[in-house]
Amino acid sequence: MSTSTTPKIDLISAASYANGQPHEQFRWLRENDPVHWHEQKSARGFWAVTRYQDVWAIGRDAKTYSSYAGGILLDDPDEFSLQQSRSMMLHMDPPDHTRYRTLVSREFIPRSANALVPRVQELARKIIDDVIERGECDLMPDFAGVLPSYVIAELLGIPLEDGRRLYALTEKMHSAHEAVNEQERAAAGLEMLSYGLNLAEEKRKHPGNDIATKLLNSEIDGDRLTPAEYSFFFLLLINAGGDTTRNLLGGGMLALFNHPGQRRRLQGNLDGLLPSAVEEMLRYVSPVIYMRRTATCDTELGGKKIRAGDKVAMYYGSANRDASMFPDADKFDVGRTPNEHIAFGGGEHFCLGSHIARVEIQVMLREIMTRLPDIEQAGPVEFLPSNFISGPSKLPVRFTPKRG
Ligand code: HEM
Repeated sequence: MSTSTTPKIDLISAASYANGQPHEQFRWLRENDPVHWHEQKSARGFWAVTRYQDVWAIGRDAKTYSSYAGGILLDDPDEFSLQQSRSMMLHMDPPDHTRYRTLVSREFIPRSANALVPRVQELARKIIDDVIERGECDLMPDFAGVLPSYVIAELLGIPLEDGRRLYALTEKMHSAHEAVNEQERAAAGLEMLSYGLNLAEEKRKHPGNDIATKLLNSEIDGDRLTPAEYSFFFLLLINAGGDTTRNLLGGGMLALFNHPGQRRRLQGNLDGLLPSAVEEMLRYVSPVIYMRRTATCDTELGGKKIRAGDKVAMYYGSANRDASMFPDADKFDVGRTPNEHIAFGGGEHFCLGSHIARVEIQVMLREIMTRLPDIEQAGPVEFLPSNFISGPSKLPVRFTPKRG
């Protein structure tokens, strides 16, 4: 048992995330109570799982730990919303999940992601062009938020500006209760779903070489996606690919500002270190704070008795700082190898967009580091008021435009 003082354990309030992920709490939990019963004001509590091996094991056991039973968020959805959201593969268990995943996975394999590189480069150049003359900006909306929304727009074959609008909606959907009320959250979800339905109509009339069109024509065992299933897939792609990537870029840049030695090392050898630097950013930042599962039967984890129906949260940010897996786990090291981080989850639901996210961040980091080599933080960082997605909401920066 560790002798460190016990911090107040609260993994729910937005206040706990005001300075990023609550690493002091995570450390204490890993050392003292790695499968911790956490109370929740508005509902029955949940098990907070903080060690790497336990998080890893839960992700790979969809039979015992279901995404279908209660969804992936700690707030229990009402029966109607839960029923509806089960049209989305994130909320499915095998074998349904496997069939759906097969439908789309071809668009997300490394070869498809690599084919996006030239277009992502163009988009990254445009993003920097739009601000370079100003000499300063807020890195979060101006760089980090724009790229994923453009890339998703590109994948879906919709106008870039629509990508930005839809992205703003995902931010609302992921914010904590204190920041966005239930009505606003529901309205954002509805707007997104109705965009998806209209898009289906549009792509039927004007098919393109994009995922939106391909999904319309996909079949599972002879069945096509229903309109609801289609628009939920659309919502999932935008939701899952937007502020995750944004926060990786923002959180990754912040880590570079806070570690000037590592930054110099990376800038001095971009070709050699970019891939490992991106993996280290994924580990260190862990943009997805947790995913929930629901136990389907009585079981045991870390010596605790988990009952059927219990909620279990896998804390990726904590697992990624587990010293039994990562030597010097709190150290940010752009050359870290091996780096078996779990920021993209694991098992059946392993992030479908991982290769695209890697392409996006590598291209954008290269663009920033080469065109804005003296970029620096120009004011205090603020973090998202969310207990689900972690990253800066505001990160003022300044830079000297590179001429010629
Ligand atoms: C840094 C960026 C990203 C991070 C950290 C991230 C993280 C994750 C995690 C942890 C999961 C697992 C969910 C679970 O186990 O329940 C997941 C699933 C998923 N991600 Fe990502 N993601 C990122 C980027 C993206 C992008 C760019 C896309 C799409 C273009 C995407 C699409 C998806 C989808 C569709 C799923 C659901 C997969 C399934 O249910 O089988 N993600 N992501």
